[in-house]
Amino acid sequence: MSAGTKKVALITGANKGLGLETARQLGKQGITVLMGARDLAKGEAAAAALKKDGIDARAVKLDVNDPADYTAVAKAIEKDFGVLDILVNNAGVMLDNRKGNETSTTSADVLKKTFDTNFFAVIALTQALLPLLRKSAAGRIVNLSSILGSNTLHATKGSYVYDAKTFAYDASKAALNSFTIHLAHELQGTKIKVNSAHPGWVKTDMGGEGAQLEIEEGGKTSVELATLPDDGPTGGYFHLGKPLPW
Ligand SMILES: NC(=O)c1ccc[n+]([C@@H]2O[C@H](COP(=O)([O-])OP(=O)(O)OC[C@H]3O[C@@H](n4cnc5c(N)ncnc54)[C@H](OP(=O)(O)O)[C@@H]3O)[C@@H](O)[C@H]2O)c1
Repeated sequence: MSAGTKKVALITGANKGLGLETARQLGKQGITVLMGARDLAKGEAAAAALKKDGIDARAVKLDVNDPADYTAVAKAIEKDFGVLDILVNNAGVMLDNRKGNETSTTSADVLKKTFDTNFFAVIALTQALLPLLRKSAAGRIVNLSSILGSNTLHATKGSYVYDAKTFAYDASKAALNSFTIHLAHELQGTKIKVNSAHPGWVKTDMGGEGAQLEIEEGGKTSVELATLPDDGPTGGYFHLGKPLPW
């Protein structure tokens, strides 16, 4: 890594799916993209593909469940850039039985593993990187939530997600939304904005082939929130510019 005047973004889980697409779209805007991957070889392969398109993409070893990794990443960013402009907390897991509606039998193990990645890791990594984000002229934190994290819609008969009850995943994203609200409140009056993104139902390994959106469309919400202007919102929950009910 070397210092420069370009904006610097870190995207977790950027070796494939929405993370890779987000890195591609941010990179095309001239932003240096640090592509987190728990398997460095996969991260390097993904970064190499973006470099072919002229993007300043660099792979970083980052298992979001390994505190040693994010401490090392924070140190490397500090040394090479001295600042972090954008953090996209994208890495996530869906471990529920996809048949759904098994709340009463969801195991503690599934709940714990889901919350470890989708909630606790996001908080710990964000806390580790906040000192670097505070040095940015326009710090942006994007938490990849989901419309499945909307308690309001889950409680509303006939809503888009009413019959899509994957308890561990849904609860982890609702908790993540709470982090967005609380951190944005704390950071009011700073240059940092914190928002939750619902990318849409997107064709990735997680979203599956039956999903509605192509990957390019799916990356747009994260990119929009990662590049918000100074008068843009903070503490919100959005899909393609439209607010969602919490
Ligand atoms: N696709 C959708 O329809 C949809 C809808 C709403 C929200 N989302 C959210 O969008 C985000 C990205 O989803 P996706 O569809 O792109 O899923 P995906 O294709 O399954 O990719 C998930 C990414 O997260 C990484 N990851 C998982 N655990 C990790 C860990 N401990 N450390 C580092 N990386 C880890 C994966 O790495 P490996 O390759 O090593 O497993 C992969 O890069 C997730 O937070 C998801 O909940 C997706």
